[in-house]
Amino acid sequence: MAIVALLLSLLVYSVRSEWIDYPSQGQASLTHYQIPRDYVASCGCAPSSTHYPTAALSQFAYGSNTSYGPACGKCFKLTLIDPVVANPPFTPSVTKSIVVKITDLCPFSAESWCGGTPSEPNAAGAFLNFDLAFPSRAIPDNFFPSDEALYGYKDFGVWNVKYETVSCNVDWAGRHDNTALGSVAALGDGACCPIDPTGGVNDTCPSYSDKNGIPPNTANASHSVEIPDYLVQFLGLIISCMFWY
Ligand SMILES: *[C@@H]1O[C@H](CO)[C@@H](O)[C@H](O)[C@H]1NC(C)=O
Ligand SMILES: *[C@@H]1O[C@H](CO)[C@@H](O)[C@H](O)[C@H]1NC(C)=O
Ligand SMILES: *[C@@H]1O[C@H](CO)[C@@H](O)[C@H](O)[C@H]1NC(C)=O
Repeated sequence: MAIVALLLSLLVYSVRSEWIDYPSQGQASLTHYQIPRDYVASCGCAPSSTHYPTAALSQFAYGSNTSYGPACGKCFKLTLIDPVVANPPFTPSVTKSIVVKITDLCPFSAESWCGGTPSEPNAAGAFLNFDLAFPSRAIPDNFFPSDEALYGYKDFGVWNVKYETVSCNVDWAGRHDNTALGSVAALGDGACCPIDPTGGVNDTCPSYSDKNGIPPNTANASHSVEIPDYLVQFLGLIISCMFWY
């Protein structure tokens, strides 16, 4: 019995350790990459998602080796700390943050910034790497602090950041744009880009490479059934009144 339990727990452990089970906030590294405007990346998010800040996430945190994964559609607030490489060290005089929606996979390759695994961080000591779509019309060109006079260049390339999982419906710049939310409907089961995944099976993508079956329908039609905040508060008031009497 004990041996069976041990084997089972080892099995569960090895299945769980395939991807990085990251906390809702922590430290990560941030790189940037170019993605054409209106491009449909790995998750299959609507083309207009590129009109707002988006990012790719490193493979072992993204949760799939190809196509969509559990990170698709999630929103993160990223706060710049300092560049990973700067000599002398550079400390920005302002604190800059940005909220990104994950629309793409940053493929694993050992030694790369997206090379973090459950057991090995990347060269910045981070298990997660966000790859920001930048430059982009959605982000000011001077988003990354710099000191060209001192360093002779503007772009430090890789930054240490603080990340925090946030609600896309509340915090993402594209939240009011229906054409930017959700997955491309025509791609059917080949796309998965929830508007605001919470981790539940109904609104979070499975791992495509784990072949977890059919993803939830994440085309943006589901956005219209969302209950507005004022209604939630109104209903809450009615319910609390009912209990009062
Ligand atoms: C996913 O990629 C990693 C790293 O290249 C590899 O070790 C792993 O076997 C791959 N998993 C699947 C399911 O293809
Ligand atoms: C999302 O909905 C809008 C209308 O509300 C529509 O124009 C747009 O094409 C939809 N996007 C997708 C990817 O289905
Ligand atoms: C997911 O959706 C199904 C069908 O609509 C429902 O029966 C189930 O309770 C939902 N699960 C969660 C965790 O919300």
